[in-house]
Amino acid sequence: MPKKVLGILGSPRLQGNTADLLDAVLEGARLAGAEVERLDLARMNIGPCVECRRCDVDATCAVKTDDMQQIYARIREVDAIALASPIFFMGVSSQTKAMIDRCQSYWVEKYVMQKRAYEGRTMPKGLFVACAGSPKPIVFDPARHTVRAFFAAIDYEYAGEVLLGFTDDSELSPRKVEALEAAKLAGTTLIG
Ligand SMILES: Cc1cc2nc3c(=O)[nH]c(=O)nc-3n(C[C@H](O)[C@H](O)[C@H](O)COP(=O)(O)O)c2cc1C
Repeated sequence: MPKKVLGILGSPRLQGNTADLLDAVLEGARLAGAEVERLDLARMNIGPCVECRRCDVDATCAVKTDDMQQIYARIREVDAIALASPIFFMGVSSQTKAMIDRCQSYWVEKYVMQKRAYEGRTMPKGLFVACAGSPKPIVFDPARHTVRAFFAAIDYEYAGEVLLGFTDDSELSPRKVEALEAAKLAGTTLIG
């Protein structure tokens, strides 16, 4: 069975820098033999968490009618997720954050109900891909904490990051070429 890698694009620009890096990750994984899929959050209908606290009861989300169902279905099915977001106001994009918040049900399952999804089995891996306009590496720090917490909640192993800063600089800068290569390698390593 080929391994499955899901790319989740949190950028509203479907062909921007973040999308390019995510595509490179998926290409690396595909060349290494994985089945890959990209979901674009900006094209999906995913509402924010309404904090109804229903997931406190049975670790499932009460909202059954939006496209989050597609994400829930894949989280326990794939071998790796590459989550890609631009940095907006020091954090992940609102599309990305809405999806993450809707995973509170997994947080309840793991930390309240003390259920480990992958105990005794290989944990799936989570890779963080991000782009920022700023050249300062510190710009990724808040989003990194959010994404680490997300992967921990869904019981994935944090497998690292592919980060590209200074995107406001120019389109095909040497930095971007380097990041695309790193992204492809990260995709290969994800399923290795
Ligand atoms: C609403 C908004 C907020 C942003 N906030 C930041 C920020 O806090 N720090 C930063 O370095 N860049 C910021 N940027 C720049 C983006 O991170 C950068 O342009 C990124 O490459 C966008 O990703 P994309 O190429 O996939 O569209 C912001 C851009 C927008 C539109």
